[in-house]
Parts: sequence; C-alpha cells; structure tokens
Amino acid sequence: MTDREEREGRSVVPIGVLVSGSGTNLQAILDATEESGFPASVAVVISNRRDAFGLERARRAGIPAVWVPHRGKDRAAFETALVAVLQEHGVEWVFLAGFMRILTGLFLNAFPDRVINIHPALLPAFPGVNAQGQAHDYGVRISGVTVHFVDEGTDTGPIVAQGAAPILPTDDATQVQQRLLRLEHELLPKVVKWAAEGRLNVIGRKVEVRLPEGDSHTLWLDG
Ligand code: GRF
Repeated sequence: MTDREEREGRSVVPIGVLVSGSGTNLQAILDATEESGFPASVAVVISNRRDAFGLERARRAGIPAVWVPHRGKDRAAFETALVAVLQEHGVEWVFLAGFMRILTGLFLNAFPDRVINIHPALLPAFPGVNAQGQAHDYGVRISGVTVHFVDEGTDTGPIVAQGAAPILPTDDATQVQQRLLRLEHELLPKVVKWAAEGRLNVIGRKVEVRLPEGDSHTLWLDG
C-alpha cells in the first residue's frame, strides 16, 4: 500500500506514463492523482530521451523516473526493456503522453487493451507527427485532441474521448498548439480516472465508456 492508500484506506491503480518531451500532459496526470479519492497513481515514468523534462517532473514528484534509450537497440530490445520496467513497477495501465516512438505488438501484447495515447488532432484527421501544424497549414476551422487506445497502426486505435476547439485565422502554429494543450490537460486525466475505475471496454473499433453521472467523452473549448 502506498502512503496515500493507507491514508485514504483504499487501493489505487498503478499506472505507467511514457514521455519524450516536456511532459505537461504527465504533469496534468500527476496533479490529478493528488486529488483526494483519485483512483490511480503514477508508479513510474519512462522516457526514451534522457533530457526529457518529463523525467524531471517525475523526480520532483518523488516518482521513479527511468530513461530507457532507444538508440543502439533494435525495436524488440527497446520494447522488451520498456515492458520490464513497467512490470517491475506493477503497472496495470500505460499512458503515452507525448511519447514519440511507435510501439509494436510485442509491447502491446504485454498490456492488452491497456495502452492509451493522446494525439493533438481529431483523428482520423491528421495522424502522425506535428498534427497541430498539419491542421494549421490545412486551414481547418475546428481541430482538437483525441484520447485513444493504441493499436499497431499510427494513431488508429479505438477512440475513448475527443475535445475540439476553434482554429482562428489569426492563429499561428504555437497558438494552435497551446490551445490544444489546454484540451489535452483537461481530457487525459479524466480518461485516466475512467480507466482506473474500470469504465472502459474496447469492443472492436469502438470503446464503450460507462460515464460517471454528468460526465462526457466530448469536450468543447470556445477559444
Ligand atoms: C502533446 O501535444 C501530445 O498530444 C503530443 O506531444 C505533445 C506532448 O506534450 N503527442 P507534453 O510533453 O505532454 O507537454
């Protein structure tokens, strides 16, 4: 039992978070796990990049922060190392929060229907890298973010929740990214909570979400 579990007299679900960059989505999860009664805790944070600030965020929160380099390893060795660290920490769910490596069946089979990613676009629009920039360059009027289960494709897994926001003609790419990050920071911790509470059920291409009273799997940001 963690200290908080003893304090609150209940078990929380241990999760792992994988990052490659600044880790603001990780920070949103960390902040949420501090709320009384939150049903999950971050057991370990892993990055493929030693200098990822997300690792520093974990250290500051007193959470194991592990660098697993991908360079010099073939994909199978890298994913085997990731799985080993996650299993050592008893992780039951894995969240990709700005993790910039593709994961194959080797990793996904270790956590079947338990790996979730956040993507800064309304999938299936704009998969892959720089989704915010793709949307900005395309000239869309609305874009958003998608929280989805990870399958072996690129951002193609079953969708849990989406948030949308306007893209203004005056926006530059950075303003688009900042607005979408606000959506991400609100949506991802909610999905972590739903996952830990056993509310998610993958049925083929779709996800059945047993929503808490008054909650929604869509989010609208006016601007
Ligand atoms: C987020 O926009 C996420 O959707 C994308 O990369 C960014 C990561 O941001 N995959 P951070 O590292 O969580 O700040």
